[in-house]
Amino acid sequence: MDYVYGPGRNHLFVPGPVNIPEQVLRAMNRNNEDYRSPAVPALTKTLLEDVKKIFKTTSGTLFLFPTTGTGAWESALTNTLSPGDRIVSFLIGQFSLLWIDRQQRLNFKVDVIESEWGEGAKLDVLAAKLAADTDHTIKAVCIVHNETATGVTNDLSLVRRILDEYRHPALFLVDGVSSICALDFRMDDWGVGVALTGSQKALSLPTGVGIVCASPRALEASKTAKSLRVFFDWKDYLKFYNLGTYWPYTPSIQLLYGLRAALDLVFEEGLENVIARHKRLGQATRLAVEAWGLKNCTQKEEWHSDTVTAVVVPPYIDSAEIVRRAWKRYNLSLGLGLNKVAGKVFRIGHLGNLNELQLLGCLAGVEMILKDVGYPVKLGSGVAAASSYLQNNIPLIPSRI
Ligand SMILES: Cc1ncc(COP(=O)(O)O)c(C=O)c1O
Repeated sequence: MDYVYGPGRNHLFVPGPVNIPEQVLRAMNRNNEDYRSPAVPALTKTLLEDVKKIFKTTSGTLFLFPTTGTGAWESALTNTLSPGDRIVSFLIGQFSLLWIDRQQRLNFKVDVIESEWGEGAKLDVLAAKLAADTDHTIKAVCIVHNETATGVTNDLSLVRRILDEYRHPALFLVDGVSSICALDFRMDDWGVGVALTGSQKALSLPTGVGIVCASPRALEASKTAKSLRVFFDWKDYLKFYNLGTYWPYTPSIQLLYGLRAALDLVFEEGLENVIARHKRLGQATRLAVEAWGLKNCTQKEEWHSDTVTAVVVPPYIDSAEIVRRAWKRYNLSLGLGLNKVAGKVFRIGHLGNLNELQLLGCLAGVEMILKDVGYPVKLGSGVAAASSYLQNNIPLIPSRI
Protein backbone atom coordinates (compact mmCIF):
# COMPACT_ATOMS: atom_id res chain seq x y z
CA MET A 1 0.00 0.00 0.00
CA ASP A 2 1.24 3.48 -0.79
CA TYR A 3 1.63 5.83 2.12
CA VAL A 4 -1.64 7.67 2.63
CA TYR A 5 -0.84 11.37 2.63
CA GLY A 6 -3.11 14.00 4.11
CA PRO A 7 -2.77 17.72 3.51
CA GLY A 8 -0.07 19.51 5.51
CA ARG A 9 2.31 17.84 7.88
CA ASN A 10 1.55 14.89 10.06
CA HIS A 11 1.61 16.07 13.68
CA LEU A 12 3.81 13.35 15.11
CA PHE A 13 3.25 13.23 18.86
CA VAL A 14 4.01 9.63 19.69
CA PRO A 15 6.82 9.36 22.26
CA GLY A 16 9.23 8.09 19.62
CA PRO A 17 9.96 7.84 16.83
CA VAL A 18 9.77 11.63 16.78
CA ASN A 19 10.00 14.36 14.15
CA ILE A 20 13.26 14.62 12.27
CA PRO A 21 14.31 18.25 11.76
CA GLU A 22 14.98 19.52 8.23
CA GLN A 23 18.66 20.05 8.99
CA VAL A 24 19.04 16.39 9.89
CA LEU A 25 17.05 15.18 6.89
CA ARG A 26 19.23 17.27 4.59
CA ALA A 27 22.44 16.07 6.24
CA MET A 28 21.40 12.46 5.66
CA ASN A 29 20.50 12.96 2.03
CA ARG A 30 23.84 11.84 0.66
CA ASN A 31 25.58 9.02 -1.09
CA ASN A 32 27.32 6.14 0.62
CA GLU A 33 31.01 6.53 1.32
CA ASP A 34 33.97 4.29 1.87
CA TYR A 35 33.97 3.93 5.63
CA ARG A 36 37.66 3.03 5.54
CA SER A 37 38.57 6.39 3.99
CA PRO A 38 40.05 8.94 6.43
CA ALA A 39 36.81 10.98 6.44
CA VAL A 40 34.51 8.54 8.24
CA PRO A 41 36.86 7.77 11.16
CA ALA A 42 37.42 11.53 11.58
CA LEU A 43 33.65 12.07 11.70
CA THR A 44 33.19 9.13 14.07
CA LYS A 45 35.78 10.50 16.46
CA THR A 46 33.83 13.76 16.84
CA LEU A 47 30.58 11.82 17.32
CA LEU A 48 31.98 9.63 20.08
CA GLU A 49 33.29 12.68 21.91
CA ASP A 50 30.17 14.76 21.47
CA VAL A 51 27.60 12.08 22.30
CA LYS A 52 29.41 11.66 25.62
CA LYS A 53 28.51 15.27 26.39
CA ILE A 54 24.79 14.48 26.30
CA PHE A 55 25.40 11.57 28.68
CA LYS A 56 27.38 13.99 30.88
CA THR A 57 30.37 11.73 31.08
CA THR A 58 34.04 12.26 30.53
CA SER A 59 35.16 8.84 31.72
CA GLY A 60 32.67 6.71 29.76
CA THR A 61 33.35 4.77 26.56
CA LEU A 62 30.74 5.14 23.88
CA PHE A 63 29.43 2.59 21.36
CA LEU A 64 27.17 3.39 18.41
CA PHE A 65 25.55 0.10 17.44
CA PRO A 66 23.47 -0.28 14.28
CA THR A 67 20.44 -1.31 16.31
CA THR A 68 17.49 -0.05 18.34
CA GLY A 69 17.00 0.48 22.08
CA THR A 70 16.26 -3.24 22.41
CA GLY A 71 19.68 -4.14 21.00
CA ALA A 72 21.27 -1.59 23.32
CA TRP A 73 19.57 -3.37 26.28
CA GLU A 74 21.17 -6.63 25.19
CA SER A 75 24.56 -5.02 24.72
CA ALA A 76 24.49 -3.50 28.22
CA LEU A 77 23.53 -6.79 29.85
CA THR A 78 25.65 -9.31 27.95
CA ASN A 79 28.86 -7.32 28.13
CA THR A 80 28.75 -6.87 31.89
CA LEU A 81 27.07 -9.97 33.35
CA SER A 82 27.32 -13.75 33.35
CA PRO A 83 24.47 -16.27 33.09
CA GLY A 84 22.98 -16.96 36.53
CA ASP A 85 23.98 -13.56 37.90
CA ARG A 86 21.46 -12.08 40.31
CA ILE A 87 20.14 -8.68 39.32
CA VAL A 88 17.46 -6.36 40.66
CA SER A 89 15.06 -4.78 38.19
CA PHE A 90 12.04 -2.50 38.56
CA LEU A 91 8.79 -3.27 36.75
CA ILE A 92 6.77 -0.08 36.37
CA GLY A 93 5.33 -0.27 32.84
CA GLN A 94 5.62 -1.85 29.41
CA PHE A 95 9.23 -0.96 28.64
CA SER A 96 10.60 -2.04 32.00
CA LEU A 97 8.56 -5.23 31.51
CA LEU A 98 10.18 -5.85 28.13
CA TRP A 99 13.67 -5.22 29.50
CA ILE A 100 13.00 -7.68 32.34
CA ASP A 101 11.82 -10.23 29.77
CA ARG A 102 15.20 -9.88 28.02
CA GLN A 103 17.04 -10.17 31.31
CA GLN A 104 15.23 -13.42 32.08
CA ARG A 105 15.73 -14.82 28.57
CA LEU A 106 19.43 -14.10 28.88
CA ASN A 107 19.41 -16.34 31.97
CA PHE A 108 19.98 -13.83 34.72
CA LYS A 109 18.21 -14.39 38.03
CA VAL A 110 16.01 -11.33 38.25
CA ASP A 111 14.57 -9.99 41.51
CA VAL A 112 11.64 -8.02 40.11
CA ILE A 113 10.38 -5.09 42.18
CA GLU A 114 6.93 -4.31 40.86
CA SER A 115 4.91 -1.10 41.16
CA GLU A 116 1.42 -0.18 40.04
CA TRP A 117 1.54 1.25 36.51
CA GLY A 118 1.67 5.02 36.99
CA GLU A 119 3.97 4.77 40.00
CA GLY A 120 7.72 5.03 40.15
CA ALA A 121 10.31 2.47 41.21
CA LYS A 122 9.99 1.27 44.83
CA LEU A 123 13.36 2.40 46.09
CA ASP A 124 12.63 1.41 49.69
CA VAL A 125 12.45 -2.22 48.53
CA LEU A 126 15.79 -1.79 46.76
CA ALA A 127 17.29 -0.41 49.97
CA ALA A 128 16.03 -3.43 51.93
CA LYS A 129 17.46 -5.85 49.38
CA LEU A 130 20.86 -4.17 49.36
CA ALA A 131 20.92 -4.03 53.15
CA ALA A 132 20.26 -7.78 53.31
CA ASP A 133 22.79 -8.60 50.61
CA THR A 134 25.94 -8.47 52.71
CA ASP A 135 27.63 -11.10 50.47
CA HIS A 136 27.11 -8.90 47.42
CA THR A 137 25.27 -11.52 45.40
CA ILE A 138 23.42 -8.76 43.52
CA LYS A 139 25.54 -7.95 40.49
CA ALA A 140 23.46 -5.20 38.90
CA VAL A 141 20.54 -2.87 39.50
CA CYS A 142 18.56 -2.16 36.31
CA ILE A 143 16.18 0.76 35.97
CA VAL A 144 14.29 2.53 33.22
CA HIS A 145 14.88 6.23 33.84
CA ASN A 146 11.71 7.31 32.07
CA GLU A 147 8.96 4.72 31.59
CA THR A 148 7.55 5.71 28.21
CA ALA A 149 4.34 3.71 28.67
CA THR A 150 3.12 5.58 31.74
CA GLY A 151 5.06 8.86 31.72
CA VAL A 152 6.94 8.12 34.92
CA THR A 153 10.45 9.44 35.59
CA ASN A 154 12.52 7.80 38.32
CA ASP A 155 14.99 9.74 40.44
CA LEU A 156 18.34 8.17 39.59
CA SER A 157 20.28 10.25 42.11
CA LEU A 158 18.32 8.43 44.84
CA VAL A 159 19.28 5.03 43.43
CA ARG A 160 22.92 6.09 43.56
CA ARG A 161 22.50 7.35 47.10
CA ILE A 162 21.04 4.00 48.21
CA LEU A 163 23.85 2.03 46.53
CA ASP A 164 26.38 4.27 48.27
CA GLU A 165 24.63 4.07 51.62
CA TYR A 166 25.03 0.29 51.66
CA ARG A 167 28.44 0.48 49.96
CA HIS A 168 27.06 -1.97 47.46
CA PRO A 169 29.19 -2.67 44.36
CA ALA A 170 26.31 -3.68 42.05
CA LEU A 171 26.59 -2.13 38.59
CA PHE A 172 23.98 0.52 37.92
CA LEU A 173 22.42 -0.11 34.48
CA VAL A 174 20.13 2.59 33.11
CA ASP A 175 17.72 2.62 30.19
CA GLY A 176 17.69 6.28 29.17
CA VAL A 177 15.85 5.68 25.90
CA SER A 178 13.18 8.32 26.47
CA SER A 179 15.24 10.53 28.77
CA ILE A 180 18.80 11.10 27.60
CA CYS A 181 19.16 14.43 25.75
CA ALA A 182 15.76 15.59 27.04
CA LEU A 183 15.75 15.12 30.83
CA ASP A 184 18.49 15.85 33.32
CA PHE A 185 20.83 12.86 33.07
CA ARG A 186 24.29 12.68 34.65
CA MET A 187 26.18 9.51 33.99
CA ASP A 188 29.35 10.37 35.94
CA ASP A 189 27.71 12.19 38.87
CA TRP A 190 25.28 9.33 39.42
CA GLY A 191 27.88 6.60 39.04
CA VAL A 192 25.99 4.90 36.23
CA GLY A 193 27.71 1.74 35.00
CA VAL A 194 26.04 1.51 31.61
CA ALA A 195 23.56 3.98 30.11
CA LEU A 196 21.82 3.56 26.82
CA THR A 197 19.46 5.28 24.42
CA GLY A 198 18.07 5.04 20.89
CA SER A 199 18.46 7.52 18.05
CA GLN A 200 14.72 7.91 17.31
CA LYS A 201 13.91 9.53 20.64
CA ALA A 202 15.28 12.81 22.01
CA LEU A 203 18.03 13.01 19.38
CA SER A 204 15.33 13.19 16.68
CA LEU A 205 17.01 10.88 14.21
CA PRO A 206 15.65 7.89 12.34
CA THR A 207 15.64 4.65 14.31
CA GLY A 208 18.86 2.67 13.87
CA VAL A 209 21.55 3.80 16.27
CA GLY A 210 21.60 2.07 19.65
CA ILE A 211 23.80 4.24 21.82
CA VAL A 212 25.54 2.54 24.74
CA CYS A 213 27.94 4.20 27.15
CA ALA A 214 30.08 2.16 29.55
CA SER A 215 31.82 3.44 32.66
CA PRO A 216 35.41 2.31 33.38
CA ARG A 217 34.00 -0.20 35.90
CA ALA A 218 31.60 -1.62 33.34
CA LEU A 219 34.43 -1.95 30.82
CA GLU A 220 36.44 -3.78 33.44
CA ALA A 221 33.46 -6.08 34.13
CA SER A 222 33.23 -6.85 30.41
CA LYS A 223 36.64 -8.53 30.58
CA THR A 224 35.28 -11.31 32.80
CA ALA A 225 31.56 -11.34 31.93
CA LYS A 226 30.69 -14.72 30.45
CA SER A 227 27.42 -14.02 28.65
CA LEU A 228 27.50 -15.03 25.03
CA ARG A 229 27.74 -11.98 22.81
CA VAL A 230 28.82 -11.61 19.23
CA PHE A 231 27.34 -8.68 17.29
CA PHE A 232 27.18 -6.47 20.39
CA ASP A 233 30.59 -7.36 21.82
CA TRP A 234 32.36 -4.20 23.06
CA LYS A 235 35.71 -5.94 22.54
CA ASP A 236 35.36 -5.84 18.76
CA TYR A 237 34.68 -2.11 18.85
CA LEU A 238 37.57 -1.41 21.20
CA LYS A 239 39.94 -3.20 18.86
CA PHE A 240 39.00 -0.85 16.03
CA TYR A 241 39.03 2.20 18.35
CA ASN A 242 42.66 1.36 19.07
CA LEU A 243 43.39 1.12 15.37
CA GLY A 244 41.74 4.52 14.82
CA THR A 245 39.36 3.10 12.19
CA TYR A 246 36.44 2.73 14.63
CA TRP A 247 34.12 0.28 12.84
CA PRO A 248 34.17 -3.52 13.15
CA TYR A 249 31.45 -3.66 10.47
CA THR A 250 29.76 -1.29 8.06
CA PRO A 251 28.17 1.74 9.72
CA SER A 252 25.23 3.61 8.21
CA ILE A 253 26.99 6.61 6.67
CA GLN A 254 23.74 8.55 6.41
CA LEU A 255 22.93 8.06 10.10
CA LEU A 256 26.40 9.20 11.10
CA TYR A 257 25.98 12.47 9.20
CA GLY A 258 22.47 12.76 10.64
CA LEU A 259 23.83 12.29 14.14
CA ARG A 260 26.40 15.02 13.51
CA ALA A 261 23.63 17.42 12.45
CA ALA A 262 21.42 16.41 15.41
CA LEU A 263 24.24 17.05 17.87
CA ASP A 264 25.01 20.39 16.24
CA LEU A 265 21.39 21.41 16.81
CA VAL A 266 21.53 20.35 20.46
CA PHE A 267 24.75 22.28 21.07
CA GLU A 268 23.50 25.34 19.21
CA GLU A 269 20.50 25.47 21.56
CA GLY A 270 22.60 24.36 24.54
CA LEU A 271 21.96 21.08 26.35
CA GLU A 272 20.64 22.84 29.46
CA ASN A 273 18.25 24.87 27.30
CA VAL A 274 17.08 21.65 25.64
CA ILE A 275 16.33 20.21 29.07
CA ALA A 276 14.55 23.42 30.13
CA ARG A 277 12.47 23.34 26.94
CA HIS A 278 11.35 19.80 27.74
CA LYS A 279 10.36 20.97 31.23
CA ARG A 280 8.17 23.65 29.67
CA LEU A 281 6.61 21.23 27.20
CA GLY A 282 5.88 18.76 30.00
CA GLN A 283 4.39 21.39 32.29
CA ALA A 284 2.26 22.91 29.51
CA THR A 285 0.87 19.48 28.62
CA ARG A 286 0.06 18.68 32.25
CA LEU A 287 -1.75 22.01 32.64
CA ALA A 288 -3.83 21.23 29.55
CA VAL A 289 -4.75 17.78 30.89
CA GLU A 290 -5.83 19.35 34.17
CA ALA A 291 -7.90 21.97 32.36
CA TRP A 292 -9.69 19.22 30.42
CA GLY A 293 -10.61 17.65 33.76
CA LEU A 294 -8.67 14.48 32.95
CA LYS A 295 -6.14 12.61 35.05
CA ASN A 296 -2.47 12.05 34.43
CA CYS A 297 -1.56 8.34 34.64
CA THR A 298 1.46 9.36 36.70
CA GLN A 299 0.41 9.12 40.33
CA LYS A 300 2.66 11.70 41.98
CA GLU A 301 4.21 14.97 40.92
CA GLU A 302 7.72 13.77 41.74
CA TRP A 303 7.41 11.16 38.91
CA HIS A 304 5.98 13.50 36.24
CA SER A 305 7.74 13.02 32.95
CA ASP A 306 8.78 15.93 30.79
CA THR A 307 9.02 13.76 27.65
CA VAL A 308 5.68 11.92 27.65
CA THR A 309 2.29 12.37 29.28
CA ALA A 310 -0.11 9.43 29.56
CA VAL A 311 -3.65 10.77 29.83
CA VAL A 312 -6.31 8.62 31.53
CA VAL A 313 -9.70 8.69 29.81
CA PRO A 314 -13.07 8.10 31.52
CA PRO A 315 -14.20 4.44 31.52
CA TYR A 316 -16.87 5.04 28.86
CA ILE A 317 -14.21 6.04 26.30
CA ASP A 318 -11.78 3.70 24.54
CA SER A 319 -8.47 5.53 24.32
CA ALA A 320 -7.57 3.56 21.17
CA GLU A 321 -10.51 5.27 19.44
CA ILE A 322 -8.96 8.64 20.32
CA VAL A 323 -5.70 7.58 18.69
CA ARG A 324 -7.52 6.23 15.60
CA ARG A 325 -9.54 9.42 15.17
CA ALA A 326 -6.53 11.63 15.74
CA TRP A 327 -4.83 10.06 12.75
CA LYS A 328 -7.87 9.70 10.51
CA ARG A 329 -9.43 13.09 11.03
CA TYR A 330 -6.71 15.49 12.19
CA ASN A 331 -3.45 14.02 10.85
CA LEU A 332 -2.26 13.84 14.44
CA SER A 333 -0.34 10.81 15.74
CA LEU A 334 -0.78 10.08 19.46
CA GLY A 335 0.61 7.15 21.45
CA LEU A 336 -1.63 4.18 22.27
CA GLY A 337 -2.05 2.82 25.78
CA LEU A 338 0.07 -0.32 26.07
CA ASN A 339 -0.64 -3.63 27.79
CA LYS A 340 -2.23 -3.02 31.24
CA VAL A 341 -3.28 0.50 30.30
CA ALA A 342 -4.49 -0.33 26.75
CA GLY A 343 -7.80 1.42 26.09
CA LYS A 344 -7.38 3.41 29.30
CA VAL A 345 -4.74 5.98 28.38
CA PHE A 346 -3.47 7.76 25.31
CA ARG A 347 -0.02 9.29 25.26
CA ILE A 348 1.25 12.66 24.13
CA GLY A 349 4.96 12.53 23.34
CA HIS A 350 6.69 15.88 23.80
CA LEU A 351 10.31 15.11 23.19
CA GLY A 352 12.99 15.86 20.69
CA ASN A 353 13.32 18.72 18.28
CA LEU A 354 9.94 20.25 19.00
CA ASN A 355 8.74 23.72 19.94
CA GLU A 356 5.93 25.13 21.98
CA LEU A 357 3.69 26.17 19.09
CA GLN A 358 3.87 22.67 17.65
CA LEU A 359 2.69 21.36 21.03
CA LEU A 360 -0.22 23.83 21.10
CA GLY A 361 -1.32 22.45 17.70
CA CYS A 362 -1.36 18.97 19.19
CA LEU A 363 -3.30 20.10 22.26
CA ALA A 364 -5.90 21.84 20.06
CA GLY A 365 -6.27 18.60 18.11
CA VAL A 366 -6.71 16.54 21.27
CA GLU A 367 -9.50 18.84 22.44
CA MET A 368 -11.44 18.37 19.21
CA ILE A 369 -10.99 14.61 19.36
CA LEU A 370 -12.14 14.48 22.98
CA LYS A 371 -15.32 16.26 21.90
CA ASP A 372 -15.67 13.87 18.95
CA VAL A 373 -15.68 10.86 21.28
CA GLY A 374 -18.27 12.35 23.61
CA TYR A 375 -16.12 13.80 26.37
CA PRO A 376 -17.55 17.14 27.53
CA VAL A 377 -14.48 19.31 27.05
CA LYS A 378 -14.59 23.06 26.58
CA LEU A 379 -12.74 23.75 23.33
CA GLY A 380 -9.76 25.96 23.99
CA SER A 381 -9.54 25.17 27.71
CA GLY A 382 -6.34 23.12 27.55
CA VAL A 383 -4.78 25.36 24.93
CA ALA A 384 -5.53 28.41 27.10
CA ALA A 385 -4.01 26.82 30.21
CA ALA A 386 -0.92 25.74 28.30
CA SER A 387 -0.45 28.95 26.36
CA SER A 388 -0.87 31.26 29.34
CA TYR A 389 1.86 29.28 31.11
CA LEU A 390 4.06 29.23 28.00
CA GLN A 391 3.57 32.91 27.22
CA ASN A 392 5.05 33.69 30.63
CA ASN A 393 7.89 31.21 30.38
CA ILE A 394 9.25 30.91 26.85
CA PRO A 395 12.69 32.57 26.68
CA LEU A 396 14.20 34.07 23.54
CA ILE A 397 15.54 31.45 21.17
CA PRO A 398 19.16 31.02 22.37
CA SER A 399 20.72 31.25 18.88
CA ARG A 400 18.76 34.45 18.13
CA ILE A 401 19.63 36.51 21.21
C1 LIG B 1 12.11 3.39 27.70
C2 LIG B 1 12.26 2.53 26.46
N1 LIG B 1 13.17 1.55 26.48
C3 LIG B 1 13.36 0.76 25.41
C4 LIG B 1 12.62 0.90 24.28
C5 LIG B 1 12.83 -0.02 23.13
O1 LIG B 1 13.46 0.67 22.11
P1 LIG B 1 13.37 0.20 20.59
O2 LIG B 1 11.93 0.19 20.21
O3 LIG B 1 14.19 1.25 19.89
O4 LIG B 1 14.00 -1.14 20.50
C6 LIG B 1 11.66 1.92 24.21
C7 LIG B 1 10.86 2.12 23.00
O5 LIG B 1 9.97 2.93 22.93
C8 LIG B 1 11.48 2.75 25.34
O6 LIG B 1 10.58 3.74 25.34
